[in-house]
Amino acid sequence: MSDENQRADAERRRGEQATRDTRSEAERARDERSDRAAGTEVDSGVPSPEEIRRVGLSNALRDLTAPLHRRAERSGVISDIVRGRATREAYALLLRNLHPVYDALERGLERHRHDPAVQLMARPEVYRANAIAQDLVSLCGSDFAERVPLLPAGAHYAAAVEAAAEGDGVGLIGHAYTRYLGDLSGGQVVGRVLAQTLGLGSEARSLYEFATIVSLDSYKGRYRDALDRAAFETERCDVILSEAMRAFRLNIALFWAVHDAIASGSGEPSPAAAGG
Ligand code: HEM
Repeated sequence: MSDENQRADAERRRGEQATRDTRSEAERARDERSDRAAGTEVDSGVPSPEEIRRVGLSNALRDLTAPLHRRAERSGVISDIVRGRATREAYALLLRNLHPVYDALERGLERHRHDPAVQLMARPEVYRANAIAQDLVSLCGSDFAERVPLLPAGAHYAAAVEAAAEGDGVGLIGHAYTRYLGDLSGGQVVGRVLAQTLGLGSEARSLYEFATIVSLDSYKGRYRDALDRAAFETERCDVILSEAMRAFRLNIALFWAVHDAIASGSGEPSPAAAGG
């Protein structure tokens, strides 16, 4: 086994360990039910803008979303992927449904690129819509949008991002945090596991490839600094926290929706799709 494969194997096993469920069946079923209904919960415990600035927006985001992050790692297709149980079809369905989300997010960030807070997070070097489209072309062909279904959970997530782009658009910062820091962090593990378990080549893993960023770790540090500064450019930094929590819940709901669609056979690409 090559060094890279050994590393990916170890990461996959670590993922399995993290995913292993020590809770009772009843607890697990209850969590799954609420995760499938994600997006309907009411946020509580969002600190005031003064408190957010005092602790730093990036710390506040990390602390407040930590329990949701743990749930996201264990949810639906993401859990299937880290346990080496996902198929190419499932991964393509996930990408197909994330594509309109990133498209809405990046259009929104560009629309607000001259606004004081949002401009700090309008960073084309992390934009992923084009990379995802490239991966989908490689997995399913150039007509992926017709061949692979847009699920209600994907449409709902994209609509929520579009809504966050209305007005001053500061809510977009919470959505950007959730997806881009995720892609730069755990996404790197997911990409390596996909290479090892599904044999996906680099042409289908552009989502995890940030060609113009030299060190992901130092970039993430700068991204967090920019988040902290953004909190001083808006009176509504509490909205950033609530949108980040909403974004996590929308992701969790989408991960389950993809898992369920594949399990029921309704998420397969139409027969002409290249796939294989
Ligand atoms: C199995 C899947 C995942 C693994 C193994 C994983 C792992 C990690 C790790 C190790 C970090 C810390 C990185 C660092 O501090 O530099 C991190 C951060 C993060 N992840 Fe994940 N993650 C996974 C899934 C997700 C998902 C599905 C999302 C969102 C949709 C997500 C969003 C984030 C965010 C926003 C951060 C930044 C936290 C912060 O420091 O503020 N992750 N992840």
